Order: sequence, then C-alpha cells, then structure tokens
Amino acid sequence: MKKTIFILVVILGLLLIVWMVMHFNGQNKIDKSGYRASNRDERIKIVDIEDLEARAAEIIPEGGFGYIQGGSETETTMRRNETAFDMVDIVPRVLTGVLNPSTKTSILGIDIALPVIVAPAAAHGLAHVSAEAGTARGAAAAGTIMSVSNYASSTLADIAKAGKGAPQWFQLYLSKDDGFNRKIIQQAENLGYDAIILTVDAPIGGYRIRDVRNDFKFPLELPNVAKTTIKTKGQGISSVFAAAQNDLTPYDVMRVKAMTKLPVIVKGIQHPDDADIAIISGADAIWVSNHGGRQLDGAPGAFEMLPEIAGRVNKRVPIIFDSGIRRGQDVFKAIASGADVVAIGRPVIYGLALGGWRGVFDVFEWLEQDLKRVMWLAGAQTVNEIKNIQLRSKCIPVRCE
Ligand SMILES: Cc1cc2nc3c(=O)[nH]c(=O)nc-3n(C[C@H](O)[C@H](O)[C@H](O)COP(=O)(O)O)c2cc1C
Repeated sequence: MKKTIFILVVILGLLLIVWMVMHFNGQNKIDKSGYRASNRDERIKIVDIEDLEARAAEIIPEGGFGYIQGGSETETTMRRNETAFDMVDIVPRVLTGVLNPSTKTSILGIDIALPVIVAPAAAHGLAHVSAEAGTARGAAAAGTIMSVSNYASSTLADIAKAGKGAPQWFQLYLSKDDGFNRKIIQQAENLGYDAIILTVDAPIGGYRIRDVRNDFKFPLELPNVAKTTIKTKGQGISSVFAAAQNDLTPYDVMRVKAMTKLPVIVKGIQHPDDADIAIISGADAIWVSNHGGRQLDGAPGAFEMLPEIAGRVNKRVPIIFDSGIRRGQDVFKAIASGADVVAIGRPVIYGLALGGWRGVFDVFEWLEQDLKRVMWLAGAQTVNEIKNIQLRSKCIPVRCE
C-alpha cells in the first residue's frame, strides 16, 4: 500500500514538472532546434515603453528577435528614425484652460480612441503563439486599427474573427502572380477589411545583416501567401520577397485601385514628389514611412521628411506616418508636422510577446496616457488642436538654423 502511494506521489510530481515545463516554456528562449514563441497571457507593467525591447529580447528566440528588431545594413536610418524627433521641440502654451484632453480622432471615416494604429508587420507568430489574431484582439480592445501584412502568420480569416468587427486594414505586397493579387484583395473585402495598404518601398528586401548572421529562415508558415504563391516555411526573407513584383510604377497603384472598392493607401512614401505621384495615381491616403529603417539604409529618418511631404499633400488626402514612434511626444510632433495618425511596428510585437493580446492593449494604453499628458502640458485639448501648437526646429535638413 505504502509503495503504491509512493509511486503515485512520484508520478504526480513528474506530471507537475512536465506541466510546469510546458507552461513556462513559452517564456524562455529556444532557438533552431525547435522555434518556440511565447505563450504568455497577462497584463504587462510598462514604466517606459522603450524598456520593452530589452524585455522582449529575453523571451523571443534570437533569430526571430533579430528579424523583428533589426534594420538594414549599418542601421543608421533605423536609429535616425528615433533621434529625428529630438531635432524638434514642442513649444508649449499655458493658460489655455485645457482639461483632460481627448485623444479620440478618425481616419478614412473610422473613429479611433487614439491617433496611433498598428503598422503591418510580417510573422507575429515569431513573437507569440496567438500571432496576428492576438494582436488583432489587443488592438480591438484598445479601440484602434489593426493593419495586417500579407506575410502574417495567422490567416486573414482568423485575424478578422479575432477583431470581432473592429477596424482592420489589409496590407499587400503585389505579387508577380496577378491572379493571387485579385484573389487576396477579394478575400480581404469579403472578410470585412476596411482598406487596402499597398506597400511600395520594398521592391526587394533591404540587406539585413542580423538575419544573415543568424542565418534566419522563417520557422513558421506565412499562410496567406504560402498556398498560392510560395513556400515560406524554412525560407529566408529574400526568397519570400522574390515572389513580389520588383518593378512597381504608378500604373500599379491604378491597377490596385481598379481591383477594389476599398480605399487604397500607398505605404512607403519618403519624397514629396512621390506623394504627388501616388495621389495622382488614385491613392486615398498616403503612408509616410521608411519601413522602420529596414529597407534603404542611408535614407533620412522618416520624421525628417514629414513636414515637406505634408506641405506638398496640402490636405488632399490623409497622411499616416510611421518609423520610430515610441512616445506620446513623438506622436504629438508627427501630428503637429502634418500627420493625421501614426502607426507603430516593433512596440506592438514586443507587447504581444510579453503579454499576448493583453500586452498589445497595454502598449496602446500606455501611449494613450502618455499622449494625453503631453497634450495637457503643451496646451492641446483635441488631436486637431495639436496642429496649432508650434514646433521649433533645431535643425532639419530643409531648414537648418
Ligand atoms: C518585424 C517587422 C516586419 C515588418 N513587415 C512588414 C510588412 O510585411 N509589410 C509592410 O508594409 N511593412 C512591414 N514592416 C514595417 C512596418 O509596417 C513599419 O513601417 C515599421 O515597423 C515602423 O517602424 P517602427 O517599428 O519603428 O514603429 C515590418 C516591420 C517589422 C519591425
């Protein structure tokens, strides 16, 4: 009898150890031998959003983390994306009577709780088992727009389902296979996506040295493109980009416009002339971005080009801005420089890795509070009023003092 009880206790102990290993494994780095993304499902405490990168590095396997965090070549442009905001000061107004400012705004007819949305990024499954479905749930809870890459690691249908009717935009890299382009745009329309983002700054992938050093290959399938155009699991980023159209022209913007009844947003604009060309070709909005410094290294920080582009656009279409946004003051400066809303890429993925959909929610909640504080201190009651606040440029390339 005693022996049986002893054996039972040992078995129970072993089962407990197995359960603990399985439960906490998602919180540890495991690479190469078997990619394992986080399975955390918890609120995350954020003191400073910039801490998230180091915290995420502790749990995302090295190859996946390098892919998410890295930029191209020397990563100078990637760093400039963040430091560019330091070149400009907000000149605050006082005695304005501002009280509890509102971060609510709208873009392309969609009301959102704050002027910060999710940028499209490939393969969220590298960060968390719930992948883009988790991100979509977090974005919906935060009251903002989820942008979905066609290199997502959840299916478009699963992401739409997780968003439960919240606004979602679908981002397309045009494929060489036009049948695929039509089919996936149609699918996005049928699933209720609200806009098509056409990314035009990636005719080929940038040279991302971290991925080369890590010999990074996607350890997961990218299901929305895998069946139709390419095999993605086990492929490097350059093989995945090989299926994309490598010689985009304004005609391609017109082609996409003709394929859909949804608004088309042209993403990856860095030059005022290209903003013009995109608008003339039919873009319903433009997205100023240098892809988070992952494409052409040696290009300016994205924020440095924003005032000139916004001047040229002159309110003909809305402007979405991304690359380097990390804090409320960055959001404020981008809006005061002509953006209507901004997007964030890496911080969302770090939030997802650290807490699942709740972590994504926490990232947006932190930014909302941070922006609100900046608005209050600077004297802007509404997002629209941010545009009235003066920025003082220390030195931006078009106008160095
Ligand atoms: C891991 C990762 C994957 C990305 N994949 C895509 C993509 O599939 N399509 C796209 O248009 N942009 C992609 N981007 C660029 C983002 O949409 C966005 O421009 C960039 O992340 C903004 O910079 P930030 O990360 O500094 O916020 C990706 C960015 C990251 C970090």
